Amino acid sequence: MGILIKGGRVIDPDTKLDEVTDVYIEDGQIQKVGKMKQGEADQVLDAKGCYVMPGLIDLHVHFRDPGQEEKEDIASGGKAAAKGGFTTVLAMPNTHPVIDTASRVNYVHHKAEEVSPIHVLQAGAITKGQKGTELADIEEMIQAGIPAISEDGKSVMNSQLYLDAMLIAKKHNIPVMAHCEDQMLVGSGCINDDEKAAELGLPGISSMVENIIVARDIFLAQDAGVHLHLCHCSTKQSVHMLQMIKETGCSVTGEVCPHHFTLCSEDIPGDNPNFKMNPPLRRQEDKEALRKALKEDVVDVISTDHAPHTLKEKEGSMKNAPFGVVGLETCVPLVITELVDKGILTPMQMAEKMSWNPAQILHLDKGSLREGKAADITIIDPDVEYMIDARTFVSKGKNTPFNGRKVKGRVTATICDGQIVYQAGQMENDL
Ligand code: DOR
Ligand code: ZN
Ligand code: ZN
Repeated sequence: MGILIKGGRVIDPDTKLDEVTDVYIEDGQIQKVGKMKQGEADQVLDAKGCYVMPGLIDLHVHFRDPGQEEKEDIASGGKAAAKGGFTTVLAMPNTHPVIDTASRVNYVHHKAEEVSPIHVLQAGAITKGQKGTELADIEEMIQAGIPAISEDGKSVMNSQLYLDAMLIAKKHNIPVMAHCEDQMLVGSGCINDDEKAAELGLPGISSMVENIIVARDIFLAQDAGVHLHLCHCSTKQSVHMLQMIKETGCSVTGEVCPHHFTLCSEDIPGDNPNFKMNPPLRRQEDKEALRKALKEDVVDVISTDHAPHTLKEKEGSMKNAPFGVVGLETCVPLVITELVDKGILTPMQMAEKMSWNPAQILHLDKGSLREGKAADITIIDPDVEYMIDARTFVSKGKNTPFNGRKVKGRVTATICDGQIVYQAGQMENDL
């Protein structure tokens, strides 16, 4: 019952292999990396001209399950992830109710096993109900299998409480994933505080809103000795701080999302909620700093912050719409078009930032194409050109600023635990 992935450019950050060869999988595992004869497999996937990478891992998604399944649920989110080339995702806990107990963690993990084609891991909230006043039972959630804690959607503004949570995470060797936003400073802002906000007459969000909390969280994490992962870095100062603190040997990593390395506030065409996300699109100079930080490996991870909302919520003015854009089905083409094709990232760096590094941060035995590892594999054709069409998304969310954008590169197949969970052209609405 083996599958032979034939003649692709096999890129493995673990063994540092970057070579045109074959990968043979059977019994859910990678059996062999190297030239094989066609006859030895039951199924052959022709990967000529394609990248063959370890299954992509998205450290940052919102699946809205439980409570807001009209936006997304674990089944639709899992399918969208598979189509996007992801074999593992980490779901953020700002659901309704918030994932702040072991039984709610179990709900997500069990449902994912039943309905999701790919692995869905759940991050635990830091405070009860994300109210910022009392710690959630973090140890109980760790026993239930959370690989990280996060208060994503907001910051824990009480530094003492946050420090207490960090010490628990440190004790159990799991990372703290930080959404950095000063709750008081952000006010009712909805886009970056610059000329665009003035032009559109919209309240702004300054870079300080993010920068101040990045600095605080670094100091707190250093004191606790815990691994800090900075979510969705959007400002030049955030990545400068990341670089500085890395140079001191501190255990900190950072991620950047495709919307932040592709767009800036100048690209906002008007009062359009599909361009509203948190943190917001910043200035051109911030975007350039993020790209440079990706290139120089200051930024370790590319994540999507996949944040589906209903069409109705994303109508009208940015003033009232919720923050967030979908990202699972546009990430690979944006990385290829904006970073790989422009010589900012090598395909190997792409595999590091989208698979190997995320696996290391969560201490997962993934992100590798070594023989004997679970067969989580993504096959990508980097040359095919097309236009992004939100109507083809399998995510329930269609809220993207990239609709109609010309891109290059697409996922041709996603394999999870040895099973083909996505194959281009074989899904409803597919291109
Ligand atoms: O854009 C965002 N969407 N930023 C957040 O902080 C929350 C997220 C969501 O849950 O929609
Ligand atoms: Zn966030
Ligand atoms: Zn988020």
